[in-house]
Amino acid sequence: MPAPLDDLTQKRVDDWIEHYLITEDEALLRPIRQAVELDIPPISVSPTQGAFLKLLSQSIGAKRILEIGCLLGYSTIWLARSLPEGGKLVSLDIFERNVRMAGENCEFAGVRDKVEFHCNPAERSLNILVNDGVDPFDLIFMDADKVSYPIYFDRVLHLSKPGTVIIADNIIRKGEVADPSSPLPAVRGINEFMKMVQEDDRLEATAMQTVGSKGHDGFAMIRVK
Ligand code: DHB
Ligand code: MG
Repeated sequence: MPAPLDDLTQKRVDDWIEHYLITEDEALLRPIRQAVELDIPPISVSPTQGAFLKLLSQSIGAKRILEIGCLLGYSTIWLARSLPEGGKLVSLDIFERNVRMAGENCEFAGVRDKVEFHCNPAERSLNILVNDGVDPFDLIFMDADKVSYPIYFDRVLHLSKPGTVIIADNIIRKGEVADPSSPLPAVRGINEFMKMVQEDDRLEATAMQTVGSKGHDGFAMIRVK
């Protein structure tokens, strides 16, 4: 009889998956340890999700990746390691400390040359990328401020092309997104973002709920037709 899905079970099963399938080297452990030392909440992607992002990127042959929100560089390292020779990851974060530490951690991981950091509120960085007319991205990992997801998504579509895959992180809020009376600004932002996806005929999409070391969460996956 399996145990009920309490937090301990979720964590134990993620540990089990990691035991078989995932190796976190010193470079990946660094940003996790630093976050604990700095009292930053454990909001990096889980090891299983980091590996998923890397596999997804490799599966679509991504050469150009955009990440919104690098924190201390944990997901940045997973994504950068998915890139082929000459590939490029553009990573945005609002905090100078995050960009500096993520840069050091990418250096330690041996991928610093593949990553270009932009330190600004993401909306401003996205506007600059759009106005500069940069080449479109193959994979976009949308994270950071959930209230701003509708704005991020609008800009992200300007940085996409047919075939671009967009992953929007943390869209479940432990299930609260499905409560129409929720007063949480993040829940409203995520619902507005979902409506944009729903109403755009250029897109095909799904969303997956996840359980594991980060509890009940999930992500949307969108493909530009
Ligand atoms: C939260 C934000 C994240 O980007 C994440 O991966 C997990 C949680 C949050 O704001 O709670
Ligand atoms: Mg996230």
